[in-house]
Amino acid sequence: MKRLLEESELEKLSADIAEQLGLHFPPSKWKTLEQAFATLAREQGFQDIHDCVAQFTSGPPGKEMIESLAGYLTIAETYFLREAQYFNILEQQIIPEIVRKRQGGERRLRIWSAGCATGEEPYSIAILLHRMRTTLSNWEISILATDINPNSLAKAREGVYTNWSFRNVPDGFQQAYFRNTGDGQFELRPEIREMVKFAGCNLVEDCYPSLINDTNAIDVIFCRNVLMYLTPQIAARIVARFQRCLLDGGWLFVSPCETANPFFIGLEPINFPNAIIYRKGSGMKSDHQGNKAISIPTPPLKPLPAYRPIQLAAPSPALPRTGAASPPPSRPHPGDHCETPPLQEAFTLYEQGAYEEAAEKVALQLVLNSRDSRALALLCRIYANQGRLTEALQMSDQALAGDKLSAGLHYLRAVILLEQGKDEESAAALKKALYLDQDLVLAHFTLANLEQRKGQLKESQRYFDTALSLLDRYQPDDLIPESDGMSAGRLKEIIGTTTSRLQQGDQG
Ligand SMILES: C[S@@+](CC[C@H](N)C(=O)[O-])C[C@H]1O[C@@H](n2cnc3c(N)ncnc32)[C@H](O)[C@@H]1O
Repeated sequence: MKRLLEESELEKLSADIAEQLGLHFPPSKWKTLEQAFATLAREQGFQDIHDCVAQFTSGPPGKEMIESLAGYLTIAETYFLREAQYFNILEQQIIPEIVRKRQGGERRLRIWSAGCATGEEPYSIAILLHRMRTTLSNWEISILATDINPNSLAKAREGVYTNWSFRNVPDGFQQAYFRNTGDGQFELRPEIREMVKFAGCNLVEDCYPSLINDTNAIDVIFCRNVLMYLTPQIAARIVARFQRCLLDGGWLFVSPCETANPFFIGLEPINFPNAIIYRKGSGMKSDHQGNKAISIPTPPLKPLPAYRPIQLAAPSPALPRTGAASPPPSRPHPGDHCETPPLQEAFTLYEQGAYEEAAEKVALQLVLNSRDSRALALLCRIYANQGRLTEALQMSDQALAGDKLSAGLHYLRAVILLEQGKDEESAAALKKALYLDQDLVLAHFTLANLEQRKGQLKESQRYFDTALSLLDRYQPDDLIPESDGMSAGRLKEIIGTTTSRLQQGDQG
């Protein structure tokens, strides 16, 4: 068949697609690329396909173009309880283990479905947690679901499905959790829908882990049937970032066809029947230690109980919500008067997600100087990333005792308080931070989210506006202070999306 594009155009295009979306388009799939660009050219009013391709390849393409392309180039195929063994393992092995290990500690459970498509995966998780509501009563549950494709996300937020999405569910599942709308569609019960927070996220971008989008201190990441479409280099980079998002002992679920890959270096493969699940080592010394081929019988799904109202703690409120961890004070620069090998090493280990080892180095630094506020703040951050919020707060108080005028430390304290659900105390700490540094963009941003959560939309907009005008002082690629690697351009996008959804009356 005649080609629409020259080979050289297609070569450049597939390299740029890999860079911007991570997707792997070898020559055997170039026909799909051509078709996608032909449709995009028509949709966006380009004179012809070559103009459209030139626009994409000549400079960084806009977010809108990337998202439209994602709609044409990605596969949003998914269904409820897809690869059911994973849900069995989550319900019968992994969550009970987390509950057991955290007895007497912080009762928090954070799950992220990355590449969630139209929502069947995160809603399957939400339903599973609903089934476990007795075990999880008084737990703070957060289910984050992200995708690059805004159309899929819009459908996910609606929570309305046809029978095709139920092709693998056991008896009772659909009746218990969905309302038959009478026109061949089934609407998810609002109590379950509200347990999941959806957000846009291109996994290629370096925007996670981050306090801004709730992608840190995660217990379980589901990223199934996503990596298989990406170039090996991008997939490896994403898995390395996932490791930093996970708590020690946290789990990465991928699909069976993705496991035979070298991307997972640094994670421990754990064999369950019909599934390999990757775990971030250390910290949570598990019963399975030293026995990777665990023989755990995976029983068939138990019959679902009749629907009852949810008893779980309230799901995450308005989007975007800050995550557990909070930004450390800036990393010491070479030549800083207090630069010391243990602290430098601690920062390096922290950035690699090796929290236990980083804490050991900080401890060494604290032997040298027990009041080093940057060491204390880093320890605070490490504890927050490990979900140890009480200790994190203690550390932030200790750091502040030695450096009361640090806006960054007040901000750090505010984010931990927020994570503990102490919104009023958090707002007070944010205002202190702003009193000390009125240009602290993230303090305005976080206050905007807090006001939004309270329904104070005008006040929220005012804080968002201030954050936006402060962001105008940065180049798009500049990193925002206290943000743990978030760029100014990315934060602007997040504010733009949030405020436009607010203006459309959607606070979820
Ligand atoms: C086949 S679906 C998988 C859905 C679900 N995880 C499952 O296993 O049923 C793949 C999803 O990955 C998303 N995706 C592809 N590239 C992505 C990227 N760079 N960032 C975020 N999501 C991406 C697609 O939009 C699509 O919704």
